[in-house]
This record gives sequence, structure tokens and C-alpha cells, in this order.
Amino acid sequence: MSNRVTSSMLYLDNVHVAFDGFKAINGLSMILEPGEMRAIIGPNGAGKTTMMDIITGKTAPDEGDVWFDGKHDLITYDESAIATMGIGRKFQKPTVFESHTLEDNLLLAMSGRRSIKTMLLDPGGKAEAQRMNEIFDTIRLGERRKDFAADLSHGQKQWLEIGMLLAQDPKLLLVDEPVAGMTDAETEETARLLREIARDHTVVVVEHDMDFIRDLDVKVTCLHEGAVLAEGQLDSVSADQRVIDVYLGR
Ligand SMILES: Nc1ncnc2c1ncn2[C@@H]1O[C@H](COP(=O)(O)OP(=O)(O)O)[C@@H](O)[C@H]1O
Ligand SMILES: [Mg+2]
Repeated sequence: MSNRVTSSMLYLDNVHVAFDGFKAINGLSMILEPGEMRAIIGPNGAGKTTMMDIITGKTAPDEGDVWFDGKHDLITYDESAIATMGIGRKFQKPTVFESHTLEDNLLLAMSGRRSIKTMLLDPGGKAEAQRMNEIFDTIRLGERRKDFAADLSHGQKQWLEIGMLLAQDPKLLLVDEPVAGMTDAETEETARLLREIARDHTVVVVEHDMDFIRDLDVKVTCLHEGAVLAEGQLDSVSADQRVIDVYLGR
């Protein structure tokens, strides 16, 4: 195994996926260092969601290498094994349990991780309660913890779902279009929230909102036709004529 694999949190090399002959992913290579947050941009149909499907084991690549945490060959694992390994994904539409309180939503998300061992070591659930408080601080919803999820705004539901991801204690978080439909204030808060999460997680964020991407202040990858078109700091990527032609100028 090469050094590039062992030192990375996520390693994609020359990945290909075709659906009925249509090349949705076509020679995609990308490396994320541990602790890095990466923003992914690109036009509709570029393959952003399919890339997440591949990383999470929902779609099997036809060709290429996909490694996680420097040692796991993701192609050899199924979706549930990959989730257990520490890759959490947030889909575009929030899928919180509306008729449950925020606390119960987080508890449900945590229970997936609760092993016999942690129950024996922590019978009163003290560590769990502590962790729940930390997550509520991160997602800015501590004062709403006894409320039903149904009573949250769309943006707050997205934050709760990010909290449910954190409750599963992933190393890598994949977040697909988190600020779609949010107010400007919620969008700005989401950038702060993700930057906080990125202090101790590796994060991949797909988003179209360029003001939000600017607030994230991280390396940007622009996908187009299933491969990387440009990569680097936002200023250089957004000045790239090819990026302007296929995405920003539209
Ligand atoms: N399961 C599938 N079957 C057939 N085509 C698919 C499937 N998933 C994605 N595609 C196609 O692959 C391309 C990439 O889609 P997607 O990854 O959703 O793009 P993005 O998220 O960048 O908008 C699109 O043309 C889409 O129609
Ligand atoms: Mg998509």
C-alpha cells in the first residue's frame, strides 16, 4: 500500500461507474487528509451524489480504488459495515423523527453505537448524557431539547440531523447540500457549525451556495462529468475559466 493511502482519511483513485453505459463517474481521483474539510462543487449531474454513494457502499464502482482511514479497502465492504466503520452521511432532505423530542432523536441515533461494553462501563448513561450535551452545544439546539422535532424550522431540522450523525461518532462525515432551503442567517450559522465539527472530524460538504462555500474557507474540488475539473483554494478554482464555463457562469 502506498504512503498516499496510509496517510489519508479518504483515498479515491481512478474510480469509474457507469449506469446503463452512461459514465456517471469517469476517472475520479481525490484524497482527503485526516481532519480536513473539503467543499465539493459542480453542475447538476457532475457525479457529486454518486461519489457519496460509492464512498458509503451504496454503489459499487466498476473500476478504481477507494480506501478509508488509511487501511480499509471500502470496495470489499457493504453499506452497513462502512457505516459502522465510521462514515456518516447526511442526505439532502432531513430525515429526523418528527413525533419524537430532540433528545429522543439523539438517543435513538446514539443507541446504534451502544455496545454491551459501553453499557457495562456506563450503566447510568453518564457519558451518554455528557455527549448529548456536547452535541446540543454544537448544533445550537440545547434550549429546544424537550421540543418535538416537528416544531423545528427546516434549517434546525438539518442541524438536528447533523447532530444525529455526530451521535454515531463517525470519523468522516459526508454532507450533501446542507443549506438548501435555509435562511441566510441559518446558512451562516451552518458554516460556523461545520467548521466546529471539522476540528475533530474529516468532512466532505457538497453545496451550490458559493457564499456558504466561501464562509467554510477550505479547499474546493469542482467535479464535472464524473471527474475533478479543478481543485484548490476557492479564489483560484472560481477564477478557472473551465469552472466558469461549466458551472459558475451559468
Ligand atoms: N442509480 C442511477 N441510475 C442511473 N443513472 C444515475 C443513477 N445515479 C445517478 N445517475 C446519473 O449519474 C449522473 C450523476 O448524478 P449525480 O451523482 O446525482 O450528480 P450530482 O449530485 O452532481 O448532481 C446523472 O446524470 C444521473 O442522472
Ligand atoms: Mg446531487
